[in-house]
Amino acid sequence: MASTEPTRLDDDGLDLIFRHARTHNIWLPIPVSQATLREIWNVMKFGPTSANCSPLRIVFVQSPAEKERLVACMDKSNQAKTRIAPVTAILAMDLEFYEKLPRLFPHDQTARSWFAGKPEHIKETALRNSSLQGAYFIVAARALGLDCGPMSGFNEDHLNTAFFADGKFKVNFVCSLGHGDATKVFPRSPRFDFDEACRLI
Ligand SMILES: Cc1cc2nc3c(=O)[nH]c(=O)nc-3n(C[C@H](O)[C@H](O)[C@H](O)COP(=O)(O)O)c2cc1C
Repeated sequence: MASTEPTRLDDDGLDLIFRHARTHNIWLPIPVSQATLREIWNVMKFGPTSANCSPLRIVFVQSPAEKERLVACMDKSNQAKTRIAPVTAILAMDLEFYEKLPRLFPHDQTARSWFAGKPEHIKETALRNSSLQGAYFIVAARALGLDCGPMSGFNEDHLNTAFFADGKFKVNFVCSLGHGDATKVFPRSPRFDFDEACRLI
């Protein structure tokens, strides 16, 4: 990093990503370009995962027909908000992520063997790291000026059958993207103070 660049985000950056960012349910009719969706991936892909295993796979659902197939998988309370969002991403985990480790973790060619034939270890690692990547996804989308509406209220079996019929990927969560109507958010819910959630030892 050049010496003239800041070594931390300024207050505007922190507000954009965290302090002023809200979860959205009501979406303005402003499209999100495919170039922006690619940019989200090209930023978030640098977030760390264990052994660089990168198990997250994303399906960006934009077409009305595909959106209706997704809406049918959502809980009733999440259906209308999913339908009106310009894009809803399905964030899934590849349960065969370890097959890619010879490429993604090239300096240790034994990494595949840490997982092959160990379904519990595969599942735990895929869930932990795809959830981390899901958080990087939200942070990247916000950093690029989008709002997010993450959701776990859906029928998991129905969604996996509808979008991942070969069984290799399993949904983690779903997240709408776009420009939210800031006038229609609930008052911010409280967060824990540092001393309630953290210990210094
Ligand atoms: C993994 C995850 C799943 C969520 N599932 C739902 C959901 O199914 N339906 C919904 O309306 N909100 C859902 N939410 C939204 C949360 O309730 C919301 O992010 C939280 O209350 C914080 O709101 P804020 O970002 O506006 O402060 C989900 C959020 C996350 C991160």
